Amino acid sequence: MDFPMFHLDWLNNRFLIAVIAIIHVIINHGLAVGFIPYITWLEQKGVLNSPKDQITDFKWDELIYKKMKVAFIITTTIGAMTGVGIWFSASLVSPASIGSLIRVFYWAWFTEWLVFVTEVVLILIYFLTWKNSNKSLKAKLRHVRFGWFLAGFSWITMAIIVSILGFMMDPGNWNTNPTLANGFTNPIYLPQLLFRTPTAMLIGGMFGVLLTVIFTKKGSEIRETALKFGGKWILVCVPFVIMGAVYYWNVMPEAMKANMSTAVGTMEFEQYYNLLKYFIIAAASLSIIIAVWALVKPKTLHFSHVILPFLFVIGFLGFFERVREFIRKPYIIGNYMYSNLLREEDYPLYKKDGILKHTTYTSVTEITSENKLIAGRDVFMNTCSRCHTVKGVNSITYVFERMYGFGKPLDEATVAGYIPGMHKGRTYMPPFPGNREELKALASYIKHLQQTGESLEGVQSTGVSINPENSAESVAKQIEKIQKEEAAKKKAKEIQLTQN
Ligand code: HEC
Repeated sequence: MDFPMFHLDWLNNRFLIAVIAIIHVIINHGLAVGFIPYITWLEQKGVLNSPKDQITDFKWDELIYKKMKVAFIITTTIGAMTGVGIWFSASLVSPASIGSLIRVFYWAWFTEWLVFVTEVVLILIYFLTWKNSNKSLKAKLRHVRFGWFLAGFSWITMAIIVSILGFMMDPGNWNTNPTLANGFTNPIYLPQLLFRTPTAMLIGGMFGVLLTVIFTKKGSEIRETALKFGGKWILVCVPFVIMGAVYYWNVMPEAMKANMSTAVGTMEFEQYYNLLKYFIIAAASLSIIIAVWALVKPKTLHFSHVILPFLFVIGFLGFFERVREFIRKPYIIGNYMYSNLLREEDYPLYKKDGILKHTTYTSVTEITSENKLIAGRDVFMNTCSRCHTVKGVNSITYVFERMYGFGKPLDEATVAGYIPGMHKGRTYMPPFPGNREELKALASYIKHLQQTGESLEGVQSTGVSINPENSAESVAKQIEKIQKEEAAKKKAKEIQLTQN
């Protein structure tokens, strides 16, 4: 509406954010929130289990340091960059929602930024001072304390951002209580945090076990000891993960649960829903198996045994994120703004005037037979393109062909007949906001797409065109018209006065 439309026709706009966000969440949760306390715990064990006259067990310490090195490189490069990437991609694709949220959650974002910068500085200090701190017991103990402090900070960044995620999913709260406090008191905040915290610890532990089998020799004593610690860590996490997951699922509002089967994948995957449920159970059981194996028979555990359960656990978290993203549809901010970035309260106005009249970036407002396709394209851009592409992932011609037959020419009247009711059958789609002419133009455009196979480019390639009714000349003309009218009125009044 108020922003020019960025559009990725091959990848799908939602997909761009999803790819960056999922990589970030895995690194943030697994390698920062979950892994740092695990590493600190092991560093501390080295100090506690070493002979009285030694600072630490140096061979052990070297192994833990090596593990930390991997996490350090990944978190400070891909981790940090994808974190920035989320806000970059979200503000490209969804400027209206990010713009709204960032104003209410200004202090959350600002604090988040400070905490995040602090976290990066602390990680640098923790890793870079590791070797130096091995020179005296006092310095080593200080280093371990510092590790716990860093773990706390990593957790706080997550605890802050979850407030915004919870707020976005809490239906209706924008209309009644769009405040920072509501981010932390909404019903989905605590369950999410109680799910994310142990899941992060579990991924951290699994990653630790994976690195142990990579960095140590088979059958060595150090591998055995490290695997036993890893096994214990995982076993403690798993029950909390299961409890957190169940709690989280239970508090999701009923209305959102209605979309659940589609949430799991796309519609075609509905039948895999049950399969995916087993996938969750599998992730938990596989973790327990690996943990018990590491505790009981550490000598026989190989890389090939650990890699699959590790990926499963990551998949488990990614799966929850996917579901969370999907169940809040058709809204991007519950009961306030739809995923097409239009506010629910503006719908009556759009239905009456059409959306193009109120769109800042369109070249058409009055639809004629000549500009019908351009109008249809602009309607598509403003009402469907946040979720559908023309030729790529979730393509609009593909979803219509799937309903009415592949390869068969689409019928404009049928397409136009489907759209006004599309939100009823498929509750994750927002209702169509436009008027009748716009509906017809959209149907013609979709048919045209099927015939030509053409794709759609966003403003990043085409540049912007401003709504003719908002252009400087148009506004000047409107002002001129008003001034003329005023002058005429004034004159009429004067005539009336002189007549009296
Ligand atoms: C909030 C995101 C979103 C918006 C906005 C959206 N859709 Fe969809 N639509 C989807 C998803 C997700 C699917 C399911 C895709 C799948 O199952 O493969 C879908 C499916 C469809 C289908 C197939 C339905 C079926 O029963 O098979 C049609 C037709 C469709 N959309 C048309 C549109 C049109 C036209 C617009 C714009 C006026 C639009 N959609 C806007 C997300 C959206």
